[in-house]
Amino acid sequence: MHTLIRNIKTLLLANNQAPKLVQGADMKTLSQLNNAFVLVEEEQIVDWGSMDNCPTFSPDQTIDATGAFVLPTWCDSHTHLVFAATREGEFIDKIQGVSYEEIARKGGGILNSAQRLQTTPHEVLLESAYQRLMEVKNYGTGAIEIKSGYGLTVDAELKMLRVIRDLKSKTKMPIKATFLGAHALPLAYKENRAGYLDLIVHKMLPQIADEGLADYIDVFCEKVAFSVAETEQIMEAGAKYGLKPKIHTNQFNCMGGIQASIAHKAISVDHLEVINDEEIACLLASDTMATLLPSAPFFINDHYPQARKMIDAGMAVALASDYNPGSTPSGKIPFVLSLACIKMKMLPEEAIHAATLNGAYAMEESHRLGTISKGKLANLIITKPMNSIAYMPYAFGSDWIDKVMIAGSL
Ligand code: NIG
Ligand code: FE
Repeated sequence: MHTLIRNIKTLLLANNQAPKLVQGADMKTLSQLNNAFVLVEEEQIVDWGSMDNCPTFSPDQTIDATGAFVLPTWCDSHTHLVFAATREGEFIDKIQGVSYEEIARKGGGILNSAQRLQTTPHEVLLESAYQRLMEVKNYGTGAIEIKSGYGLTVDAELKMLRVIRDLKSKTKMPIKATFLGAHALPLAYKENRAGYLDLIVHKMLPQIADEGLADYIDVFCEKVAFSVAETEQIMEAGAKYGLKPKIHTNQFNCMGGIQASIAHKAISVDHLEVINDEEIACLLASDTMATLLPSAPFFINDHYPQARKMIDAGMAVALASDYNPGSTPSGKIPFVLSLACIKMKMLPEEAIHAATLNGAYAMEESHRLGTISKGKLANLIITKPMNSIAYMPYAFGSDWIDKVMIAGSL
């Protein structure tokens, strides 16, 4: 089965020798080829180039992309897509002046989501997560990382990870699973932190590893959640089972979470609404991706990460949605691009790099996703006709995506 996309106004990120990630000043130079074609065979990109060299045989399917841009789908490397219930009550509390951290301290927030998830059956969680997955696919997401962390008991954490496993078999979209048992301290362990860490290390992790349910390990390293020492303990326990860290840190406080994550060879450190010069220097010297989630500070009315400062210092940054019922009830990456440009002063080219190739790096998928390259998976966005790539973050309320191809299928 061959699909030929022809008459593409501009093909973005086409490169057969694509790097694993793009950083610093290079982020603003996005490869653009005008009047182009892409040829897909089964699940893969097999050729691309100028229309002057367009294949002349009759493919099984032809798509005319006159006026349109074609680019790789988003790699959303940080989500909490599996959850049992939305949290509009807290939304109203926040409107009336209660902060996100106060809600968490009062036993709302993550604990509220965990209580609901614990009593929700597997099939119900699977169906609602699948609906969300289909929703974000229409927004151009072609690969996704999904975390546990709303279970907080052995059974419920396993249930969440098994839902993620079952999602994998329902779609061709590449999915990575992350174990986030250390998302919040359950009320039952309020006076026994060590007991909960023990449960994670000695009960949850062995069984998760035994069933092969997780690719990564995460901790919410923050004053309202887990300390740096606790984060280190969990990263070390995860490493024994081959789980690399992707860590929530620096959402509200600089506590040393970035340094500790880098020391434990984290794939990414995520949030970074607060960061200091020492932490930027550490990230520059590391292979760890800085993943920014601007929909979270948008929704909880917090300040945004200093993306400009990070990129100008030479860092690579990725953008992800953080789709979750508490801080970010949205998985819409086009809106993330708009926030990145409007609130964090990223250029459209930088934002697109951050949501594609650098997102792929943050979930160890840049060998097969994130650029238009021969041999990579045919995960493509075909836009509606538009004048320039700046239209994508500019038109923040418009649906400018026409078609989404996942592993060769529209
Ligand atoms: O990334 N900050 C920690 N975890 C999620 C929010 C979880 C929640 O509020 O339910 C986040 O923002
Ligand atoms: Fe998160």
